Amino acid sequence: MIEVEDLSKYYGLTVGVKNLNFRVERGEVLGFLGPNGAGKTTTMKMLTCYLPPTSGTAKICGHDILEQPLEVRKRIGYLPEKTPLYLDMRVREYIEFVAHLKGVPKNILASDVDRALEQCGLGSVRNRTIGKLSKGYQQRVGIAQAILHDPDLLILDEPTLGLDPKQIIEIRQLIKNLGSERTVILSSHILPEVSQVCNRIIIINEGELVAVDTPDNLRNRLKKSSVINVKLADSEKSADAASFLSGIDGITLVKEGTAVKGSLAYILESRPDADLRREIARRLVEEGYPLLEIFSEELSLEDIFLQLVTEEAR
Ligand SMILES: Nc1ncnc2c1ncn2[C@@H]1O[C@H](COP(=O)(O)OP(=O)(O)OP(=O)(O)O)[C@@H](O)[C@H]1O
Ligand SMILES: [Mg+2]
Repeated sequence: MIEVEDLSKYYGLTVGVKNLNFRVERGEVLGFLGPNGAGKTTTMKMLTCYLPPTSGTAKICGHDILEQPLEVRKRIGYLPEKTPLYLDMRVREYIEFVAHLKGVPKNILASDVDRALEQCGLGSVRNRTIGKLSKGYQQRVGIAQAILHDPDLLILDEPTLGLDPKQIIEIRQLIKNLGSERTVILSSHILPEVSQVCNRIIIINEGELVAVDTPDNLRNRLKKSSVINVKLADSEKSADAASFLSGIDGITLVKEGTAVKGSLAYILESRPDADLRREIARRLVEEGYPLLEIFSEELSLEDIFLQLVTEEAR
């Protein structure tokens, strides 16, 4: 579906991206993950033919971005980082306008517009002015214009940026639904986000590709230990909890965490492949410790970056 070959972009002397090579298969939902300035938007602009590469190229459905940009654009729906919406227009009016621009034939225009609105959950706000919609709904309008011509490939640049948690969940679900029939690339700098929606992740940093893998493999590969948080009520019984926890088989380290009033927190480490939560909970309860909470800690994007970047430097 997508073949990227030695793709580079320099803005004068500034590196946008450097020698990117990757493939995306049909039907994949690929997460493009990287901190600010990593080169996510630059890559997406090149794949959508909005920006010419300095060197290298890419093929979308077998069509070269340099030689056949029109063929490429026909197959791509693009949600740019800053969605260019006409805030004075009504939702349906705007999508119709985009349909005219995209050259959707007159006889199917109305049904295509309605399908896009429906798929993005915009049916009920079709006659509202875009500027008066919430940010989440405005983002849906942006996605509706991207899927209007029913493209094989959707490229979404930070589709959930700036949304509240409820809207984030809704947009994620929308992307999942859209991804069941299409290939999707979306960028983000939030790891939990991409691991929930995507089946493969590309991590870029300072314009260079650092890792490509499934979310689970990435986490496992980078995990040097398993971290479990335990919270106990602050009582007499809890006084010797740290030494009790150290005595549980498989625990390699016990640290005291930040205690909140009325409770005590402990951070435990064990081997990466062991999940000791059940055993720890059972032992604590059996011994009568006042257990309030127990949960394992996922690696954050920051941890992964630090690990990847330091591994590279070695
Ligand atoms: N038009 C431009 N002119 C000069 N430099 C640019 C331009 N656009 C991007 N850059 C530089 O290229 C690098 C990659 O930027 P890019 O916008 O692709 O990153 P990004 O991963 O999308 O970041 P963000 O998470 O902030 O959106 C950055 O160093 C940026 O400053
Ligand atoms: Mg960007």
